[in-house]
Amino acid sequence: MRTEYCGQLNQSHLGKQVTLCGWVNRYRDLGGLIFIEMRDCTGFVQVLFYPHQKSVFDKAYTLRNEFCIQVVGIVRLRPNSQINKEMTTGLVEVFGHALVIINRSDPLPIDSNQVNNEEARLKYRYLDLRNTEMKRRLQTRATITKLIRHFMDRHCFLEIETPMLTKATSEGARDYLVPSRMHTGKFYALPQSPQLFKQLLMISGFDRYYQITKCFRDEDLRADRQPEFTQIDVEMSFIFAVQVRKLMEELTRMLWLEVIGIDLGKFPVISFAEAKRRYGSDKPDLRNPLELIDIADIVKNFNFHAFSVAANDINGRVAVICVPGGAHLTRKSINEYRFFVNIYGAKELSWIKVHQRSSGLSDVQGPIVKFFNTEELESTLTRTNAKSGDILFFLADNIKIVTNALGALRLKLGSDLALTKLDSWAPLWVVDFPMFIENSDGALTAMHHPFTAPRDITIEELVSMPTNAIANAYDMVINGYEIGSGSVRIHDYDMQKTIFKILGMNAREQDEIFGFLLEAMKYGTPPHAGMAFGLDRLVMLLTGTNNIRDVIAFPKTTAAVCLMTDAPNSSNPKVLQELAISISQKYHA
Ligand code: AMO
Repeated sequence: MRTEYCGQLNQSHLGKQVTLCGWVNRYRDLGGLIFIEMRDCTGFVQVLFYPHQKSVFDKAYTLRNEFCIQVVGIVRLRPNSQINKEMTTGLVEVFGHALVIINRSDPLPIDSNQVNNEEARLKYRYLDLRNTEMKRRLQTRATITKLIRHFMDRHCFLEIETPMLTKATSEGARDYLVPSRMHTGKFYALPQSPQLFKQLLMISGFDRYYQITKCFRDEDLRADRQPEFTQIDVEMSFIFAVQVRKLMEELTRMLWLEVIGIDLGKFPVISFAEAKRRYGSDKPDLRNPLELIDIADIVKNFNFHAFSVAANDINGRVAVICVPGGAHLTRKSINEYRFFVNIYGAKELSWIKVHQRSSGLSDVQGPIVKFFNTEELESTLTRTNAKSGDILFFLADNIKIVTNALGALRLKLGSDLALTKLDSWAPLWVVDFPMFIENSDGALTAMHHPFTAPRDITIEELVSMPTNAIANAYDMVINGYEIGSGSVRIHDYDMQKTIFKILGMNAREQDEIFGFLLEAMKYGTPPHAGMAFGLDRLVMLLTGTNNIRDVIAFPKTTAAVCLMTDAPNSSNPKVLQELAISISQKYHA
């Protein structure tokens, strides 16, 4: 239907007749002349209609924004006064002499020249995607997947698909279940990830597997989480953790270089314990220069009860954030930060303003200054590297509260006071996670997943002190986002059974849920390790948005709803009957 694309017209087309197809992006009737900006997937071009071609002109007169049209015309140079340097095709225009209105359009419910509310954008997503910025993001997404496939191919990975209708296996979230008609009363689960299938492929001897695949998790959603999202899933045999990390780092560096021309350099590696201690997070944003600094040893004999109690408690922590230039903060903003840490369970945020560093106690200000002696203050200022004009924020409480609350405050201060270098990149690896998290009832859950190998520990040691075990796992973090996560897997049958047992599964449960994996592990399982990236998060970073919905064509809201199709919705009673499902009265619409 077309000979050229709108956005590709240039001087090489001068004098040529072209046929264009697309939409009216903007319509202007200048009395004797009709100008339209015509749009297709490549961009825009100006088209004019003159009144001396009456039938075409009359038709052009009826055009409105977003009509779908076909235009035949001659490309010509714009007069000097009308050259538009902002437009790729701004040197040329098309003099239209034939026009087909393929389809009219009602006025759009959203206006791509304005900022629309997200609800309307999601309801009319197909119109929202006409927006150039949205197109650019999805084009970048396609470029990224293409680059990944080339990279994986160059490194001898085989792309293998794994099932979508599968069995519920624990990956930490709730499963989406699909009822089976053939096996009434039974359910498939949509995969939370292809974890076990990729491990089984290693047992099959595929050596290097990857897949760009959908994963499904029924969990609380956030700006960087969707119920269905895409992973770049990778697994390798006969390989050490450091080799997996090296290759995945190379892949990430390649993407940043190819897509936005940035060299990420070598990624620093820090342990989970260090990340929590220094940044209050296991996915620290290292663009933010603030750190949590421990001072329990300095305030052990402090006159201020809250500090000395926490400082002497083995489960306590006393830590400080020193904010450069923060002494100018008003009491009102300091109070806001005091309320902010309450959200994280912290009782009282204390502070000291350092007006003149060299004057010691005589030129610092704040409600807790009176508790410090000269020596304690000097040690605190030295350790936090405080300078004149800084403010120190203190928290004393149990380790978890202080770490989480100051970790969140660090991010807030970094953003409020523009300390976080938003135009920079800060990748890193976080390693050496604990194997298990202890729940309030004392039960243990796997921090990564139950197939992750512990590091340097025997089965006997693991059984006697499970909470001391360190996982051979690694997360890739960029600018505070967990971009990817992986681990060395258990390839020893007894170790796998031990982990299941520590997680509270008896032999029957192990067999019921993971029998197929345990059985497979009996047949010469190779050592293997792998990782999965969140593709949507990678694309978010590479397209400069912090909203995951911006990089997914048809995303769901944070309530897991598709506003365009209204999914999820009720089902036909006949279908439910076939599936032997009855809906409890209170859920009837
Ligand atoms: P994990 O659960 O850490 O590991 O997931 C890997 C990566 O997937 C992304 N991700 C998500 N992205 C968007 N929405 C979500 N709901 C969501 N959940 C996770 C993150 C995360 O780092 N099988 C293991 C990987 C392995 O061990 O190889 C796994 O799935 O970027």
